[in-house]
Amino acid sequence: MTSADMTNSDKLRAHEFDGIREFDNHLPKWWLWTLYLAVLFSVGYWVHYEVLRSGLSSGEHFALAVQADDERIAKKLGPISNETLLELTKLESRVAAGKAEFVKTCAQCHTANGGGGIGPNLTDKYWLHGNTPMEIKKTIDDGVVEKGMAAWKDVLGPKLVTDLVAYILTIKNTNVPGGKEPQGEPYDN
Ligand code: HEC
Repeated sequence: MTSADMTNSDKLRAHEFDGIREFDNHLPKWWLWTLYLAVLFSVGYWVHYEVLRSGLSSGEHFALAVQADDERIAKKLGPISNETLLELTKLESRVAAGKAEFVKTCAQCHTANGGGGIGPNLTDKYWLHGNTPMEIKKTIDDGVVEKGMAAWKDVLGPKLVTDLVAYILTIKNTNVPGGKEPQGEPYDN
């Protein structure tokens, strides 16, 4: 190309390598706008997720979805019975909530793994007050006050009590090592 073919915008840059010259053209406007918009977006993104933390992480989204699903299933379960309490043991978030409450509130007497201390071992097949889901629920609700086991119904409320029952059903008959000696009657279920 000779300099006569060039328009005003076709300015050649000063350098030359092996006879190759380069134009000094501006980047197209539309392309620059995609850059500016991307920069603006990234600032907004950073403020939303990293500075204000008003956006949920994918982990938090997942936890919420699991919880919503559990609540939907729990609603469908209907009134509390042996069957619905057993169904609850399949809901990850409810069992996890029961475990967390157990470690916080019950572990001082039953130890964190349920092996027993002041209170009986909840992981063996011996039970003082029955081992069906509804019997376990009743013991937690009403306690055995004269023996040092408080009534938890009004302290914890119905949801946490059912979470605790669900958790205890998952550790029942797991016979954790170092558990307390048997108390009560043996049950085969
Ligand atoms: C201050 C000590 C103490 C705390 C705290 C405690 N328990 Fe107990 N728990 C006991 C004792 C003692 C017994 C045995 C009562 C008896 O001898 O009849 C018992 C019995 C039980 C039983 C019946 C076991 C069986 O063999 O029938 C269950 C279930 C139970 N506790 C669950 C819980 C849960 C769930 C919590 C927490 C919300 C809890 N306990 C907190 C002391 C405690």
